[in-house]
Amino acid sequence: MRNFILGVVITLLVLALGGLAFALLGFMPTNADATPPTLERRIAMPALDASMERHAPRVNSPLPPTDDNLIDGIRIYAMNCALCHGGLDNKPSALEHSFYPPPPQLVLDPLDDPEWHIFYAIRTGVRYTGMPAWGKVLGEQDMWKVTAFLSRVQKLPPGVQDYWKKSFGTAPPAEGAKHGGDMD
Ligand code: HEC
Repeated sequence: MRNFILGVVITLLVLALGGLAFALLGFMPTNADATPPTLERRIAMPALDASMERHAPRVNSPLPPTDDNLIDGIRIYAMNCALCHGGLDNKPSALEHSFYPPPPQLVLDPLDDPEWHIFYAIRTGVRYTGMPAWGKVLGEQDMWKVTAFLSRVQKLPPGVQDYWKKSFGTAPPAEGAKHGGDMD
């Protein structure tokens, strides 16, 4: 039994040192202009969801989704988020393939997560990706306004759709539309 435990400990030690050597000898790629392999995505995406499920408080938005709040949400999105997540011109972001992992295109492929989940992702960011923690930059209300917009991209009331058309010269994407980005 003692030999068995010793064997397990030595194996773990060798694996850990091997991993450390692999990294410190420069074998780990650092380039961000690569597409994450399918296996990595299959593990990373559910792991991210599971972590948010575990950590995010189940809070309801303190703001009603009025036209004014949704229009504010669009403005905040256009100023802070469109660069990475795609603009209201219905085109993918020019940086879509310049991040590892790539930023999801939130206008073209809207999220179907609950608001508490989206709010948590915005407030706390996503570690080891390009997603900043906006809790240090945007006020609580502004984060809820973007959350309200992002959870209704394809279901905006007519007044907000008019604002979108007037300001960005495009119609909001039709319900159910998808551009088939990397993050599907
Ligand atoms: C510098 C680029 C960048 C900016 C600016 C940025 N994001 Fe992100 N965001 C990312 C990346 C990259 C990811 C992908 C993280 C991942 O794959 O785990 C992400 C992920 C997210 C997610 C999580 C999606 C999910 O699948 O759960 C949300 C929500 C989000 N961003 C919202 C926003 C909002 C709102 C803003 C503006 C206030 C914003 N982001 C600004 C790069 C950015």
